[in-house]
Amino acid sequence: MSSPALAALHPRLPSPLRAVEDDRFSSRGVRLFLKRDDLIHPDLVGNKWRKLAPNLTAAAGRPILTFGGAYSNHLRATAAAGRLLSLPTIGVVRGDELAGRPLNPSLARCAADGMRLHFIDRSTYRHKTEPATLARVLRAADAEDAYVVPEGGSNTHAVRGCRALGEELAGLADVVAIACGTGGTLAGLAAGLAPDQRALGIPVLKGDFLTADIRTLQHRAFGAPLDNWTLDDRFHFGGYARTTPELDTFTEDFENRHGLPVERLYVAKLLYGLVALAEEDAFPRGTTLAAVVTGRPFP
Ligand SMILES: Cc1ncc(COP(=O)(O)O)c(C=O)c1O
Repeated sequence: MSSPALAALHPRLPSPLRAVEDDRFSSRGVRLFLKRDDLIHPDLVGNKWRKLAPNLTAAAGRPILTFGGAYSNHLRATAAAGRLLSLPTIGVVRGDELAGRPLNPSLARCAADGMRLHFIDRSTYRHKTEPATLARVLRAADAEDAYVVPEGGSNTHAVRGCRALGEELAGLADVVAIACGTGGTLAGLAAGLAPDQRALGIPVLKGDFLTADIRTLQHRAFGAPLDNWTLDDRFHFGGYARTTPELDTFTEDFENRHGLPVERLYVAKLLYGLVALAEEDAFPRGTTLAAVVTGRPFP
């Protein structure tokens, strides 16, 4: 996929940076901005554009095969890219029990965008990055010629693509905060920041693998890990897609205060974490904080 073909989709880049008046921050001398990556493109939203665009170029017209769960934002974005750019896409979906059942709205959108869905059992899915298992999956999906993008889209091309997010914020924020799944977006963003800036990641999954994963992603993409980022792992609410009444109430209140539709799996936990940190006085007075809005609610 050539850069002109991608440019013809008119991504809104750099994405807008909007100041937000919120007394939970301003009363502590912190200025809050929202980096509206959710406005980059209506179908390739947020970090999906930044991660997929370089992979579409690298795929050079081959079918794109990627992986995800039944509600994966990444699968939907890949399917949309296929429709917009007339590229065949194959989605390998976790859970063979879903095969033959009516598709949920997220997978139905993928199929409507032309993605061919291939369901695999959870054990095979867990081992999908092992070469022999991957080869077996590609054969079974009749997609041996495909360009493979990993689950969540976080390969070296994607991490390098996310560096531009940091570069767009150079000089505009002291701390850039972002929700993390695989950590690929944070890994790239941190590499684009100026020396006096730092990145803060809020993991939405439970587990202590992410620091090592991000260091590995940075090593592969940039030759060495960077030390200008930290994680705060207190805000996952029990793990991926888990929530509590407290988080739901917080999120609805944030939407009402600021007129921002808040994506629930990632962005809600980020915003909750930032308010909690502000209330702990974790940011020195005078800090300018940019929260990256990496997605928007579906549908
Ligand atoms: C809306 C949203 N925000 C943040 C992320 C986390 O991105 P990463 O996996 O690069 O950490 C994702 C994951 O794909 C996402 O869908």
